[in-house]
Order: sequence, then C-alpha cells, then structure tokens
Amino acid sequence: MLERIEEIRSEAGTAIEAAPGTAELEGLRVRLLGRKAELTTILRGIADLPQRERGKVGAAANRARQELEALLERRAADLDAAELEARLAVDRVDVTLPGAPARPVGHIHLITRTTRQIEDVMVGLGYRVVEGPEIEHDYYNFTALNHPPGHPARMLQDTFYVQSHPDVLLRTHTSPVQIRALEVQPPPIFMIVPGKVYRRDSDATHSPMFHQVEGLAIGEGITMADLQGTLSEMLQAIFGEGREARMRPHFFPFTEPSVEFDVSCFQCEGSGALGDGSRCNLCKGIGWIEVGGAGMVDPTVLGFVESSGYDPERVQGFAFGMGVERIAMLRHGVPDLRRFFDNDVRVLGQFR
Ligand code: DAH
Repeated sequence: MLERIEEIRSEAGTAIEAAPGTAELEGLRVRLLGRKAELTTILRGIADLPQRERGKVGAAANRARQELEALLERRAADLDAAELEARLAVDRVDVTLPGAPARPVGHIHLITRTTRQIEDVMVGLGYRVVEGPEIEHDYYNFTALNHPPGHPARMLQDTFYVQSHPDVLLRTHTSPVQIRALEVQPPPIFMIVPGKVYRRDSDATHSPMFHQVEGLAIGEGITMADLQGTLSEMLQAIFGEGREARMRPHFFPFTEPSVEFDVSCFQCEGSGALGDGSRCNLCKGIGWIEVGGAGMVDPTVLGFVESSGYDPERVQGFAFGMGVERIAMLRHGVPDLRRFFDNDVRVLGQFR
C-alpha cells in the first residue's frame, strides 16, 4: 500500500509539471484529488485497515495529498502568469498609432475665431475680457440700462422670458455686463464682453441666438474722439488696413449721444462702385457698411452704479456693441447666418 501511494505521488508530480494549461490542470486536480480518485479512496479506506498499518498508511496518504495540493497550487500560479503574459502580448496596442482611417484635425468655428480676433485687438489696446450670465435679470438687461417701462425691446414678442419668473430673461444684448462690471470695479474701466445673446427673431440675417461683443471705457476725460479712434483701430484690425470708421447719429436708451458706426466698404474701397463701374453689391453703392451701435454712456446709467465710484460729474466714457455673425458674414461673404449653426462640415470646413 505504501508503495502504491509513493507511485501515485511520483506519477502525479510528473503529470502536474507537464500540464500545458490551466484547463488541463483543473482536469488533473479532479482526477488526482477528486471524490473518485485513487488517493481519496485509500484515505477513505484507512479505517478498514488492520490496526498496525493504519498509522503509517494514513500518514503517507495524507502527506501525498498535501504534497499534490501544493504542487497543483504552484503549477496553477505559473500557468496563470504565463497565460496572462501571452494575452497581454496578443492584446498589445500602440496607442500612438493614428486611428484607422486617420481623422482630420478639427478647427475653431468661424464665430469663435472672429470673436477671438476682436478680443485680441482690444486686449492690445489695454482692454480686459469680461463675461456675464446669459440668463439675466430684467434689472441688468433693461432697467439699469435706462429702458423705460414701455420700451419695445421689453415686449414679449421680442424677448424670451422665464415663465415662472417674469423678471428673468435670456439677455437680449451683452450690455447688462456693463452694469455688472461697474458694480464691482471702480473707475477707470476698459473692458470688452463677448457672448451669446437671444431674441425672438429668425430669418437669413437674424437668429434666436447670436453673438455680440460689447466694449466699455470709462474714466476721467474720455471723449467721443476716443470712441472714434478706438473704433477706427478696431475696424482696421478686423477688416484690413486703410479702413475708416464713420459715426452716424442714432438712438439707444443707455447712451447720449448715440451713434451707429460704419466701416468703409472693403470691396469697393468706399467708392460705392466696382471696377467695371457697376454698383457695389456689398455696401449697395453707399461706400459704408453698418457694423454696430455706440455712444457716450448716459449719466443716468452711471447713476445706477454711483456707489461704486462712478460719479457722473467726474467720470464719463463710451460704449459700443456689435454682432459677431454680421462681421463674419461680411468678411467671408456668407449669405445666410443660419449656415453658421447648421453644423454642416462642408460649410464650416471652409473657414479654417
Ligand atoms: N446693446 C445694443 C444692441 O444690442 C448695441 C449697443 C449699442 C451697445 C450702443 C452699446 C452701445 O454698448 O453703446 O442693439
């Protein structure tokens, strides 16, 4: 009996070492130590052996069992490690390889690019870029900007209001950020505000959401001549050297006097006529193209932020605002503003 145990032990040891994989090893475990295994049968039969053999056979059989368990465990660990190595080798991926097919690199949207270009010019002139909320209070969007209660812009047909809060709305312009900035920063202030604005408007040149850039300069002794010079500098940077700025009288509730400003036409060089004598289609023969609104900040507006240091008797300044889509359309000859937001890459890809 002891010899048989020794035989089982040594044959099993060889088989375990030779097991080629974890699945085969598991099969071996069942065959060597399972309920029907020979060693198990021997162990179970020990009680029936003659008294004097029991001790020796029992000890030998138990030792053999423990040894085989240890061998199985070690072999399993080795096989696991080897199999993991092999799987990793097969699965190896070079994450630095380009995708298949290689994807073209994207680019910034024309509206963002135009906005940043305007920011760059103005930052160069010493202005700071400031942002404000798109969901705004009636107070900042209208009241503090001197819009009287019956002003048409306040009407339901022009502005998106928040239903549950009648004095909360989607800002209709970037001008409310003027008030928010003046509340927290004492004079002097030189800032521009890029951002989205919302109106109930939709056609080829109007969209319910569009972008504006607002400018504001307030300090001592700032005049309309400074406004003219600033606009001229900015428009040259946007539309090209040699462009001129022109102001025409207009009305805005928050500026006095108010103007609309134009840039000299960059297609006909301001002459209104093309080389062949025909009327310039871009400026409609006028020689000037409207760009935005501006003016000297109304003292009434400064009155709303007087406690932050804006004494209308001491400081004054100018503000301006313009639509980014309009500028991009003019510069790139885009006929319909809605194309900017259709997300058709054939259109957007033209403006890298
Ligand atoms: N907020 C005006 C609008 O959306 C544009 C504007 C006009 C802004 C005159 C200004 C300004 O700062 O001074 O129509």
